[in-house]
This record gives sequence, structure tokens and C-alpha cells, in this order.
Amino acid sequence: MDIRKKITELKRERNAVIVAHYYAPPEVQDVADFLGDSLGLSRIAAGTDAETIVFGGVHFMAETAAIISPEKKVYAPAPDAGCSLADSVDAASLRKWKKEHPGGIVVSYVNTTAAVKAETDYCCTSANAVKVVESLPEGCEILFGPDRNLGAHIMKTTGRRMSLWDGVCTVHDVITPGMIREAAERYPDADILVHPEASCSSSEDILSGDNIFFYSTAGMLAHARKSEKKRFVIATETDTLHQLKKENPGKIFIPVSPGIVCREMKKVTLDGILGCLEKGEGEIRLEAGLRERALLPIRRMLEIG
Ligand code: 13P
Ligand code: SF4
Repeated sequence: MDIRKKITELKRERNAVIVAHYYAPPEVQDVADFLGDSLGLSRIAAGTDAETIVFGGVHFMAETAAIISPEKKVYAPAPDAGCSLADSVDAASLRKWKKEHPGGIVVSYVNTTAAVKAETDYCCTSANAVKVVESLPEGCEILFGPDRNLGAHIMKTTGRRMSLWDGVCTVHDVITPGMIREAAERYPDADILVHPEASCSSSEDILSGDNIFFYSTAGMLAHARKSEKKRFVIATETDTLHQLKKENPGKIFIPVSPGIVCREMKKVTLDGILGCLEKGEGEIRLEAGLRERALLPIRRMLEIG
């Protein structure tokens, strides 16, 4: 039987949903019941009635869903799929940083392990980071991690000062101001949609550039849907173009570079999804105490919006 049919049958039998991030390979996106950015997928994990969630994304994403939904079984089709940001900080180093800044409020990107979330005051995603930081009292010390590019972008857009952890997404860090300038010159009629994990995201001339917009992946989709423009340059992981093209058949999407590929996301396969549904492979298990401590900063984030 075709693997897609098998997946659909097993999904029904197990009362399961498949959710996937826009960076998952196109064939994985195409079998998903829900697609989203990190914030949207957290909300889906919190709201679905399904008993089982198969998470088409890297490990920290499935783990975040398991933290949010303890009553559900959550599976990662590629449990070894990592993330350079999540790998850049561990709980012991974060505890040391906190000791050096007593009273500092820790804001962590969701691209972190459960152990790091357990040491965090507020989580955020690229979609709500500005809102989360703006919700904190004026004048408080903010320790932001692990993405220094997103952190620098938030400092520029909010005017708030923060101490930044020295981590990067190695996929987005190669997107420089020069690449964006070149795209703007080459495609003057296009809107340029940039992910704030890019290393250009705090560059003054890029921030103030005409037709240059910073968004999470879902924000890019919303922009392209609403815009009257015909052409868009996309400065994020290239498989985001799969949904952009599907949703907007009359519009043209150009990757800022074809090399912006997250190899870890490509470890998520249809075979991996089948393994979760058929054999219960890749189940995320969390110790209850750790899960509860990791849930608090996620809950605070979801309450802010
Ligand atoms: P968003 O989908 O929230 O924009 O996140 C991008 C990302 O790099 C996820 O790993
Ligand atoms: Fe992590 Fe970057 Fe890959 Fe997202 S694109 S999973 S932040 S390495």
C-alpha cells in the first residue's frame, strides 16, 4: 500500500494528528493536518482533541508539544533532529548566567530544551518576541537567549536593552545585509520577507529599507496572501516556498539563496512518521517535575499572545 494511504489509515485508527513546521520537507508538509510556525504549532498542540500528535519538526518542537499536552502521546519522527540554537545553551550554563545577573528576567526562544525552559521566566517565538519583551516592566534587566540575532533585532525594534546569549541559527546566520541589499537592487518590484534569526536583522539600513519586512514563517505566509505584489524574495529556510507557492499560484517566490536549508529538518521523513504511528517509535517522555517547570514560561508566553 502507498505510504501516504497507510499513514492516513493509521492516523484515523490512532486518533492522531500530524502537525508540521514550514521547514519540513514538502512531502511531510503535504501529509500534515496542520502546518504552522512555532507559535501556531504550540497553540495547536494545546487545543487539539486528538489523543496523539506526530510532530513533523526537530526534537525541541515535539518536546514543546509534549510539555504543553501531557495527556497526549507526542511522537517525533526524527528524534535525533537537533537545532543549533537549542544546542547552544544548557541548563547549567543558563543557571551560571542567571547567578551573574541576579534579578534578571530570562526570556528564552522556544528553540531550547525542556531543561533550559525550566530555568526560564518567559518563552517567546519569532512571532511574539517583541510583544513578550514589551510586556516586561520598564527598566528590568532582561537576559535574552539563545539567539543573538533575534535578540539584537528586538532591541532595535523595541528600544529595550537586553543581555544576549551568544547563540545563532547556523542556517539563518548566513543571511547578511549584503545579500538583502543585492536582492533589493535586483528585484526592485518585490517585497523582501526576512526571518529575524538572520544576521542582517539588526542592520539599520535593512530595518529601514523600503519593501523589507521581518516575519516569522507564518507571518510571511500572511503577508504574501494579503499583498498586491506579484514577486517576493524569501529570506528563510527554502522549503517555506512550498506553501507560499501552493497558496499563491499567481505569485512568484524567489529564495534569497538556494543554500538556506536546515538539514536537521530534512531528517523528518514519511517513513519516520509511519514508524511513529505503526510502531510507537520516537515517543517523547518527560519527567513530570521537569515538564511542569518547563510549562510555566510557555504558559506565560501563550497568555501574552
Ligand atoms: P518560526 O516558524 O517560529 O518562524 O521559527 C523559525 C525556526 O527557525 C524554527 O526552528
Ligand atoms: Fe534550528 Fe535554525 Fe533549523 Fe530552525 S532553521 S530548526 S532554528 S537550526
